[in-house]
Amino acid sequence: MEKNKFNKAYWELRYEKNKTGWNIGYASPPLENFIKQLRDTSISILIPGAGNSFEAELLWNEGFTNTFVLDIAKQPLENFKKRVKNFPYEQVLHQDFFELNRTFDLIIEQTFFCALNPDLRKRYVEKMAQLLKPNGKLVGLFFDFPLTEAGPPFGGSINEYKSIFNKHFKINTLQRATNSIKERQGKELFFIFEV
Ligand SMILES: C[S@@+](CC[C@H](N)C(=O)[O-])C[C@H]1O[C@@H](n2cnc3c(N)ncnc32)[C@H](O)[C@@H]1O
Repeated sequence: MEKNKFNKAYWELRYEKNKTGWNIGYASPPLENFIKQLRDTSISILIPGAGNSFEAELLWNEGFTNTFVLDIAKQPLENFKKRVKNFPYEQVLHQDFFELNRTFDLIIEQTFFCALNPDLRKRYVEKMAQLLKPNGKLVGLFFDFPLTEAGPPFGGSINEYKSIFNKHFKINTLQRATNSIKERQGKELFFIFEV
């Protein structure tokens, strides 16, 4: 598989052609539940591969002012800026995730890992560990269906996720999500990993 097939041009074209089946249109319920029980609104939060980022909108509305969204494609970030008018421009990062250099208390994952070429999984894990502060957490959703050549989205299983993350993270939670949207029911794992 070519490494750079799913590059900036690929994702920008998907947005331009409106081929964005992943876009829920509101915060994903398992992530909404997680966000709503967070208490310290001063923590720094990153959402990489954020797309239209309804989770970042929710965080912002809940008072998490130290939230950053990042995407390699410009259009969803422009959509986000129009929707969430007071969100600081400097916290909207139009860049490649693998080139980001700063640290956060919490990183939220949703359909970003599965969008990457599976050859990049090891680099993703290392990069996430590098982007988190001591005791920082990577929290989110992974798909639970077999990994094949077909994708994105590219799948995986509990065992595969455990084996690639446990070198850099403590696996606190990794279980079937209970309140996934209808299309993802039984196919989504909720996880909390800690560096
Ligand atoms: C399947 S979409 C998911 C978007 C969003 N997380 C959601 O759930 O709606 C994958 C996103 O990752 C972005 N992306 C892909 N590769 C990236 C990279 N190397 N750095 C930053 N963003 C990337 C794409 O532009 C796209 O917005």
